Amino acid sequence: MNIQLRNGKTIPVEMHKVRIVQKINLPPAKRRLEAMTEAGYNTFLLRTRDVFLDMLTDSGTNAMSDNQLAAMMIADDAYAGSESFFRLADTVRDILGFNYSIPVHQGRAAEHLLAKVFVKPGDVVLMNYHFTTTKAHFEIAGATVLEIYTDEAMNTSSTHPFRGNLDLRKFQECIDKYGAARIPFVRMEATTNLVGGQPFSLDNLRQVKQLAAAHNIPLVYDGSLISENAYFIKERDPSCAGMSIAEIIREMMSLVDLLYLSARKSTCVRGGLMATNSKDYYDRILAWLPLYEGFSTYGGMSIKEVEAMSVGLREMTDYHVASVSPEFIAYFVNRLLENGLPAVTPPGGLACHVDAKRFLPHLPQSQYPAGALAAAIYLASGVRSMERGSISMDRDAQGNDVPADLELARLAVPRRVYTLSQIEYAVDRLTWLYQHRELVGGLEFIEEPKVLRFFFGRLKALDGWGSKLVQAFEAEFGTAC
Ligand SMILES: Cc1ncc(COP(=O)(O)O)c(C=O)c1O
Repeated sequence: MNIQLRNGKTIPVEMHKVRIVQKINLPPAKRRLEAMTEAGYNTFLLRTRDVFLDMLTDSGTNAMSDNQLAAMMIADDAYAGSESFFRLADTVRDILGFNYSIPVHQGRAAEHLLAKVFVKPGDVVLMNYHFTTTKAHFEIAGATVLEIYTDEAMNTSSTHPFRGNLDLRKFQECIDKYGAARIPFVRMEATTNLVGGQPFSLDNLRQVKQLAAAHNIPLVYDGSLISENAYFIKERDPSCAGMSIAEIIREMMSLVDLLYLSARKSTCVRGGLMATNSKDYYDRILAWLPLYEGFSTYGGMSIKEVEAMSVGLREMTDYHVASVSPEFIAYFVNRLLENGLPAVTPPGGLACHVDAKRFLPHLPQSQYPAGALAAAIYLASGVRSMERGSISMDRDAQGNDVPADLELARLAVPRRVYTLSQIEYAVDRLTWLYQHRELVGGLEFIEEPKVLRFFFGRLKALDGWGSKLVQAFEAEFGTAC
């Protein structure tokens, strides 16, 4: 909850207390340089023992609540017919309003089933923006993914409250150009991950539904960050200020034909979910479920997590739970802005994003500025962030690099995990890095997988800039941290 102090400053105050902790270490800069080199300048390949603050992702890294942990103890561990599943299905009906629930092992498993059931070669899948695994699944199924975002989406210093909106004019143009029959669905992603966690408005969702329904195009909703999108609607759309998070979620879901989500985010467990009121969709997905995921009452998830997901779905509708990560992110972004750093605005869900093109204007996109910035942040702080730029795009069919629309270093803020002093530490070291940004050079691939190369690709620092950066760091802070 944001609280105003007597000095006029607003800080996010945790509406929970910490009862279980995990020890972390801050490896000295010299070890960070070794670790980064061993990891091929790819933060995914670092071991957590070398990481101080793990801001790689908010996926599966959130603190669970006491009630979630308690629920795990009463999990009904049956292969088929588990009572835990029926409790989940009841919760989904209550909170989301869907009669059919399909658990899956995580978000991309839902994308795989969506692609299998709905997408065929030659199709055009429309969305407000892609997510890496989403795009890969639909393209492997033979479709083209088209992102029909508004002009504001790519403005990283915007004040627009809803940069995740879908552009309705472009939607109509796509229907005219390709025909509704080639569009298996339109996908709306809550707090668009690759655009910097930016939400869409309830009005925009209503209009998308209206146009889609007029052409019999199903509306698919990626709700991995559903409660955060609801929080932004409440905070940023004055006409929704009087609605509760639960009411906004129900209203959004009333417009949706099929919901899927990674339960690793808003609901703070490890799993995934698909839900719908269409018996036809349910039957078509169910047909493949046992082959790829598991029986319908666990879908590849641990039953303990199924039980905890029910609790997580209810808890995410609590304002203090839905707001915890966005408020910390806003604080993080505002502190960076105060220090003159190019943090992405307005602050979004999931992470504090830094615009690497503006941070490192001397680097061409071909030298992967976002990847270089993520590596440099680690060297300067031990904080692990993630590249969200051209490394996260795979090459085209001709083998050419595809420059990303945005080059972002993403510092995820897992829910209820880090404290304000840890955020302040990250702000301080990022600020130091910004003051020494000319020392950061580009990256070059030395090992490059064909699909989703950002996961396992290895790179090297051009002209060995990593060592020079660490030397400058040690000159100022010494060799101990
Ligand atoms: C918006 C969105 N959709 C889908 C996924 C994929 O989910 P998972 O990582 O559980 O497979 C993610 C993961 O980060 C995501 O952010």
